[in-house]
Amino acid sequence: MKVLITGGCGFIGSNFIRYFNTKHPYYKILNVDKLTYAGNLENLKGIERKRNYRFIKADISNTKVMKNCFEKFRPDAVINFAAETHVDRSIVGPSPFIKTNFLGVGVLLNLALRFQIKKFLQISTDEVYGSILRGSFTEHSPLNPSSPYAASKAAADALVMAYYRTHGLPVLITRSSNNYGPYQFPEKLIPLTIINALNNKKIPLYGDGKNVRDWLSVEDNCEAIDIVFQKGSIGETYNVGGENELTNIYIVRKILKILNKSESLITFVKDRPGHDRRYSLSLSKIRRQLDWHPTTSFRKGMDKTIDWYRKHQKWLRNCQTGEYRTFYRKHYSKLGLQEF
Ligand SMILES: NC(=O)c1ccc[n+]([C@@H]2O[C@H](COP(=O)([O-])OP(=O)(O)OC[C@H]3O[C@@H](n4cnc5c(N)ncnc54)[C@H](O)[C@@H]3O)[C@@H](O)[C@H]2O)c1
Repeated sequence: MKVLITGGCGFIGSNFIRYFNTKHPYYKILNVDKLTYAGNLENLKGIERKRNYRFIKADISNTKVMKNCFEKFRPDAVINFAAETHVDRSIVGPSPFIKTNFLGVGVLLNLALRFQIKKFLQISTDEVYGSILRGSFTEHSPLNPSSPYAASKAAADALVMAYYRTHGLPVLITRSSNNYGPYQFPEKLIPLTIINALNNKKIPLYGDGKNVRDWLSVEDNCEAIDIVFQKGSIGETYNVGGENELTNIYIVRKILKILNKSESLITFVKDRPGHDRRYSLSLSKIRRQLDWHPTTSFRKGMDKTIDWYRKHQKWLRNCQTGEYRTFYRKHYSKLGLQEF
């Protein structure tokens, strides 16, 4: 089996390639990644020397280059992780989100159809459903995205399903909740809190800090993605969650407690526009049909994550690229957000 994986140098993609390669050592993998500020070749150290793995630096929205990748590699399947993923960035500059998350997916779908691939798995997000104060979203809930990021992902999901209905392209979608774990770019809540706490820097919290997210260990998500890829029914979407619904303030306090740091590091900042209050997913479909459920307890996953960031200071320093610094100074500093 030859699998084209896009965005494999990012947080979930790199964890997935490591997991997938261990689970299916005979699969051939081509990882196509643009290496934006969030993509890092170091995330795949050890994998890059394997004979069944290849990497190409490319943009999924570039039809010519992607056609070349399909022609040369002739994939049986595509798993698309490539995306612009930070909601804050989508508010100040939505264009790369529309280009990669929507137009890029369009390029992949066209090529997947032309090269008759046998499976196209789109990695989506719970953010496409929008906010829910009570109850949980099922896969049949209407899409109601709030941020430009979530809207670009919802548009992509619609396009993926259109290729299934119109052309019979064999597609699958996973919509997962917030992931945490090793290799996450440190502008996101959990790594940012860990790093700033370790360095006694301020920890920004939006609004009253009571927004609820369902935290999923990235390892559990990788397992779920593989199960959907192997056993999911074509044309179906599967929610993937961690069954750990927690407020942001709870998470930050917990990390500070584990690290034995003072809560005075917490700094409340003006709320993000369009900030969804609560995300919640029903996992009954994936439990019932694919016999999957999350197995990592939040405490165990968090201890492991903190330990990883503590031991990877060099990796962290390499994330502080010129692009990150320039972007931070231009947009975040005036919002009172703390750079890592
Ligand atoms: N992180 C989460 O909590 C979460 C939750 C639900 C869904 N998702 C989805 O999972 C996927 C991966 O998320 P992540 O957190 O690993 O993101 P990430 O930002 O860590 O990584 C994204 C990767 O995509 C690459 N990329 C960006 N634009 C590209 C382009 N035009 N062409 C090729 N590569 C490109 C980047 O270089 C990077 O390696 C995304 O589709 C995201 O929407 C993430």
